[in-house]
Amino acid sequence: MSSGSFPYIPVDARGWRLAMGLRPLEIERWLEVDAHRDEELALKADLLATRPEVVVATRPEGDAASAELYDEVLDWFARYAPDLAPGTKETSEHPVVAAARLVQEDLCVLVRSDAWRLQAACVCFPSRWTLATKIGRTMDQIHEPIPGYAESLSGPTTGVFDRLKPERPFWRLNWTVIDDPSLHQPHAPRQLSPDDIDQWFFRVERQTIRRLALSDAIVFTIHNYVAAVNDLRDTPEFLEHLLLGIEGAPTDMQEYKGWVGVAHSLREALS
Ligand code: HEM
Repeated sequence: MSSGSFPYIPVDARGWRLAMGLRPLEIERWLEVDAHRDEELALKADLLATRPEVVVATRPEGDAASAELYDEVLDWFARYAPDLAPGTKETSEHPVVAAARLVQEDLCVLVRSDAWRLQAACVCFPSRWTLATKIGRTMDQIHEPIPGYAESLSGPTTGVFDRLKPERPFWRLNWTVIDDPSLHQPHAPRQLSPDDIDQWFFRVERQTIRRLALSDAIVFTIHNYVAAVNDLRDTPEFLEHLLLGIEGAPTDMQEYKGWVGVAHSLREALS
């Protein structure tokens, strides 16, 4: 379901679930360009100039794959958005940064050694996590704070990553409700104020995974979409489905997400 200019509303009558939810991706839709492009690319440029140590992390193990990623981004623009294609390929920057400057997505490069490890990334718009603590880490280590990940998602995710084919990429959606509409939130999660629905923001991450043919690495992209909950209220059944999603989440997940008490006030707002 989508509403107006907000493209993804991944809450529905089925309520909460912790699932991979992968869907096949057409390569034309690998990256998305929307009306926020200029503003978001300017914000990225500013963050790269002022906080490079917060938004970039690279290790030599990710260099070759990052160069391939940069080529793939240029190739994607040439094929699917030629009006936006950059004039030159020349860059003196790390290729993961050069690639990330061109797109609204955050870019992560994972390379398989003993396990899939994050070896290069440019993440300007983290949703309450810190890149420096994740670089070089395995998928299990990265997801260590997520309740239920180790039990339900670790095995399936590793299986999918191992079998991923360059010609068959995937995408998925993640969502949350938080108290700040900023895209750049490189800090720990915090509790939402349950009584202040005017300050609630629905934040959706559209994520893609794609195997690179030459380096055999995996590129993980994250594109964030944010709207005030109040601005989505008129979408049929949005608040009802949001309530189902929040109240169905296990207690430890509600705590991780900062949703304690939120279902209760949402129920009151609806009644
Ligand atoms: C496609 C497979 C993946 C699945 C199923 C998955 C699943 C999840 C889930 C359920 C969360 C909790 C987020 C929330 O709901 O608020 C999460 C958080 C996160 N994921 Fe993933 N994820 C995947 C791939 C990746 C990859 C490739 C990276 C590489 C950087 C990554 C990095 C993160 C980070 C940094 C967080 C926040 C962790 C924190 O709070 O410290 N994920 N992921």
